[in-house]
Amino acid sequence: MIDKRTSPERMHAPLKAALTQLGASALALLLLMAGLEMTALQWAVIQGVIAMRIAFFAGAASWWMGLHVAFAPTAVWANTLALAPVWWGGAFVVLLAAFGATFRTQVPLFLTAPKVRYALGELLDPVRSVRIIDLGCGLGSVITALKRMRPECECHGVELALLPYLVSRLRGARRGCRIERRDLMSVDLSRYDVVYAFLSPAPMPQLWAKARREMRPGSRFVSLAFAVPDVPADRVIAVGPKSRHMLHVWTM
Ligand SMILES: C[S@@+](CC[C@H](N)C(=O)[O-])C[C@H]1O[C@@H](n2cnc3c(N)ncnc32)[C@H](O)[C@@H]1O
Repeated sequence: MIDKRTSPERMHAPLKAALTQLGASALALLLLMAGLEMTALQWAVIQGVIAMRIAFFAGAASWWMGLHVAFAPTAVWANTLALAPVWWGGAFVVLLAAFGATFRTQVPLFLTAPKVRYALGELLDPVRSVRIIDLGCGLGSVITALKRMRPECECHGVELALLPYLVSRLRGARRGCRIERRDLMSVDLSRYDVVYAFLSPAPMPQLWAKARREMRPGSRFVSLAFAVPDVPADRVIAVGPKSRHMLHVWTM
């Protein structure tokens, strides 16, 4: 059976969304060419509805529907603000620096809740100093929190997206954590006692295969929210009611 969460279709969702909007805008243009009189906003709403229908029939995830409906009307509205082009250019550069890598990795930036960070700290060996890494450390909040809780531990993080990397690097430098800008798949996991990841379903099968190859017996692989397909965790710690509060723990 195909796992919809990790299928290639899901992996190319942003590309599919862009094509959907292009198709919808072509169809909406046909209406204009057929002589239908309407304002720019009405035209944008029609484009949004067409895009939503295309996305629905193409099997897009439900949360794309709202984005498709809102995209063109928002663009028309934003145009009425008459902002200088430099603002749009600046916003684009900031978004690119923050989320540009997402197109390739299929992992957006969202943060581990404080109570989950605390639960993760409780998982660390209470006696021994351990080495821990956050794969995709975002703004560095997990790794700096762990260092605060256990100053004697070695806390590392890697992050691919430029802006989050710079933020975590700054925060890490103040706390004594080592943060690198690199792809998590290039990290040697054999050096770590605890490997933490809060990513998305897309990289989990590949990351698990890497963890199995490299991690030492007795070390722990911890994934927040995302299980490894067909590999039940040794322990699931529910810190709250939602999936983003579930720590999946495997002991190698
Ligand atoms: C959901 S966020 C989690 C951030 C942080 N670990 C936390 O829990 O607060 C996932 C992060 O992983 C980063 N990421 C995704 N794929 C990556 C890769 N292949 N190499 C390095 N970082 C990656 C993303 O840029 C994003 O910042």
